[in-house]
Amino acid sequence: MKKILVFDTTLRDGEQSPGVALNVHEKLEIARQLARLNVDIIEAGFPIASPGDAEAVKAVAREIKGPAICALARAKEKDIEVAWESIRYAETPIIHTFIATSDIHLKHKLRLSREQALEQAVWAVKKAKSFTPYVEFSAEDATRSSWEYLVQVYSAVIEAGATTINIPDTVGYITPLEMKELIEYLLKNVKGVEKVTISVHCHNDLGLAVANSLLAIQGGATQVECTINGIGERAGNAALEEIVMALHVRGEFFQAQTDINYQEIYRTSRLVSQLTGMLVQPNKAVVGDNAFAHESGIHQDGVLKERLTYEIMDARLIGRQEKVLVLGKHSGRHAFAKKLEELGYHLSEEELNKAFARFKQLADQKKHITEADLETIVSEEITKQEEIYQLDFVHVCSGNNILPTATVRLKAADGQTLEGVATGVGPVDAAYKAISKMLGISPDLVNFTLQSISGGTEALGEVLVRIFGDEKVYVGRGSSQDVVVASVMAYLSAINKMAQEKKLNPQKDYQES
Ligand code: KIV
Ligand code: ZN
Repeated sequence: MKKILVFDTTLRDGEQSPGVALNVHEKLEIARQLARLNVDIIEAGFPIASPGDAEAVKAVAREIKGPAICALARAKEKDIEVAWESIRYAETPIIHTFIATSDIHLKHKLRLSREQALEQAVWAVKKAKSFTPYVEFSAEDATRSSWEYLVQVYSAVIEAGATTINIPDTVGYITPLEMKELIEYLLKNVKGVEKVTISVHCHNDLGLAVANSLLAIQGGATQVECTINGIGERAGNAALEEIVMALHVRGEFFQAQTDINYQEIYRTSRLVSQLTGMLVQPNKAVVGDNAFAHESGIHQDGVLKERLTYEIMDARLIGRQEKVLVLGKHSGRHAFAKKLEELGYHLSEEELNKAFARFKQLADQKKHITEADLETIVSEEITKQEEIYQLDFVHVCSGNNILPTATVRLKAADGQTLEGVATGVGPVDAAYKAISKMLGISPDLVNFTLQSISGGTEALGEVLVRIFGDEKVYVGRGSSQDVVVASVMAYLSAINKMAQEKKLNPQKDYQES
């Protein structure tokens, strides 16, 4: 079996999804999970894009051991220098430099001739190589470039020292059989190609990103670039979990495999969805809510008799089992900590105390606690950042013939107590208005979603919100069995991120004490 390297670009191309903005803390949390997932390479960001991006890449490079850490850089001096500064402390630092090669891009975007672009590509690879032995080169928009020209460019960058050549389908244009043919053509014609890794990077504009990646592997590619849940620019990138499971389920056919730790797939998908605020569609392959749900009676009957009748993979393999915990309201802190360790969580004392308190609260009210419940609570605690405003209480009054009213009290980090009252079209609207009013802010609520973590009316509800304020989008999440409380917690978590960044000052008018 041929080994396929998994190059995860969730933190770089995935973060380029419209409306997604991860901060350093969140990026680190995702990188830790990607390391547990055992990806080979983490593309941690595009450091020249912003100081925040550079800081996040640095943090990932310093902390994460195991996967190689990669930073993106245009074929420009400053980009490459900043990329190197950001990843220099990684165990295996990769600089990924790129320049467009299609005539459309050369003419309209770069205003360069083919010769000039080739020269710049070679120069950039040499520059990157002066910092690190690991250099990846991408010919942006490769799939709309002349194949003969690609041969020239890739041959030249290999000679200049590139250790990986990447073939991006930047605009999701190619089709699977063409992709296979292109890879075969490059393998046959590029000079020195046998010495380097052949990578593909497929976008999903025609819904073909995974198929194109798989056919590229058939054609001879040895690395796939992908993102968790397929997030990314426009229609997204190839979904990591789909490629990995296709290679696993159809290993005999592809004669290829990855080193991914399948058990971590589902948790990684959940974490990325929670932190980016990008929900996974229910019918999404592998990680969608319905991916293992059987509605038709015939199917249900078949699966009950023999799972293999209608299931090609075992949900448990990717860590999706809906196990009811043996822990309950009488369980002690020690048993709780042990269970978390079994699930792969390593919490600090403080995080453990907070998670345990939340667990006890839930166990008091809910008979059957599932692993999904536990993961929701724990991941919320470990991804929580400094709370400038903490919810003290929320009271709402609502119904079908009453004006919905909310009273909210917050505790601020500086010791102040803030209280506000507002009415709205419903209890959540009223609570959000009360908070905005007392803090003197008016962010737009761009998006609000509520989902239940398990079945039943006592289920934990999880709310994800996206707010837009001060020219930026902030994602917040909260969970509680009370959906109004979950909604308020989600809103506050987004506001806390905004406040941290913008150092908001609450309006004195609405303070009581
Ligand atoms: O889609 C693309 O072309 C890219 C490159 C930078 C690899 O993301
Ligand atoms: Zn891309």
